[in-house]
Amino acid sequence: MMEQHTEVTKPQTLDELIQILHKIFEGDEINVEEVQNIMESYESNPQEWVKYAKFDQYRYTRNLVDEGNGKFNLMILCWGEGHGSSIHDHTDSHCFMKLLQGQLKETLFEWPGGRAQGTMVQKSQRVLQENQCAYINDSIGLHRVENVSHTECAVSLHLYSPPFQQCQAFDQRTGHKNTVKMTFWSKYGERTPVEVVMCQENN
Ligand SMILES: [Fe+2]
Repeated sequence: MMEQHTEVTKPQTLDELIQILHKIFEGDEINVEEVQNIMESYESNPQEWVKYAKFDQYRYTRNLVDEGNGKFNLMILCWGEGHGSSIHDHTDSHCFMKLLQGQLKETLFEWPGGRAQGTMVQKSQRVLQENQCAYINDSIGLHRVENVSHTECAVSLHLYSPPFQQCQAFDQRTGHKNTVKMTFWSKYGERTPVEVVMCQENN
């Protein structure tokens, strides 16, 4: 019997992974499985990504690593103990999420609406382990990602294609949604300047 093998180049470093991703995303068609395999086959080496891993005490941070020639955004998310995301969508993009350190719990939900009024319907739940790579898009559903550990932080590598700057966050009890603008805590290892908001009194 003939077997078909997809050529998988195993990236030896994070830089090499980024180079391979640039190649893959040159074309217009994305093979989800190929990207997932490549990201999974990179063995996390903290020395290679520690400069992007900037934590905040209060919530998880998004740290830009590479802009993928405009085709994708690659970023590192840093999750302190107990930090979690909202239930959110992915703005019609592909989302790949690879664990670099620790564990993350992913809970999948159905889109609210139709007969499913009120509390959102949970589809499944799993715990992602180091080096595993998950995939989601809007046709699969919505998800919430959490570092449920009270003693360990978690670090994950995310690829979004095409890149997007806002998504929708959902209230689990009501299914109501809000548009959320996303920002970077750091870019290329440098802390993003904090936006200064001037408060003006109108009277
Ligand atoms: Fe997500």
